[in-house]
Amino acid sequence: MKAIICSKYGNPENLKLGNVEKPDPKDNELLIKIYAATVNRTDCAILRAKPFIMRFVTGVFKPKKLIPGTEFAGKIEAVGDNVNTYKVDDKVFGFDDTGLQSHAQYMTISKDKALALMPENLTYEQAAASIEGAHYAYNFINKVDIKSGQKVLVNGATGAIGSAVVQFLKYFGVYVTAVCNS
Ligand SMILES: NC(=O)c1ccc[n+]([C@@H]2O[C@H](COP(=O)([O-])OP(=O)(O)OC[C@H]3O[C@@H](n4cnc5c(N)ncnc54)[C@H](OP(=O)(O)O)[C@@H]3O)[C@@H](O)[C@H]2O)c1
Repeated sequence: MKAIICSKYGNPENLKLGNVEKPDPKDNELLIKIYAATVNRTDCAILRAKPFIMRFVTGVFKPKKLIPGTEFAGKIEAVGDNVNTYKVDDKVFGFDDTGLQSHAQYMTISKDKALALMPENLTYEQAAASIEGAHYAYNFINKVDIKSGQKVLVNGATGAIGSAVVQFLKYFGVYVTAVCNS
């Protein structure tokens, strides 16, 4: 299969299009044909290995995972013997900030990782681009006790995380004041 290969940390020039073996799903994994993936802020941080402390997860001297990509939307092509929560041809999307190797034609993912069936009204492109910001947004607001009628100021409300925070807060009935750069 075709994939983006990143064998050393640095700039986008280090990313090369290459051919690699198509992965085989293990018993608890799904094989997914990727229809859309993003280049998000987490991908950029992993490429540059900044902040440095990330290297203890991503690889000290060079990336442990040769293929970048943390978000995806695609269709299940095969499932392992122990997978009964998803089936072939299901449309799914997901995110993992430690790297999913989704900048490729195919990837495998454990059935227990952060993935879900795609809402029917979303395109692959919309689904793939909807997750990273929402993931961090939910991780932040999940730590506080949010009640309907509260007032919250969101600084950076037009960004990936901020626009997701605004939508979660509105869902919980919070009064939002949104601030952006301009
Ligand atoms: N710790 C983590 O794991 C983690 C993970 C992801 C992101 N982050 C951090 O979280 C922050 C947001 O990430 P993001 O992906 O949502 O970024 P983003 O999409 O680039 O959004 C940045 C937001 O900040 C606003 N902004 C810029 N300068 C501002 C200023 N002077 N005053 C008020 N708002 C200002 C922008 O407004 P405009 O639209 O008007 O430019 C935009 O709303 C970043 O600092 C990022 O590094 C941390």
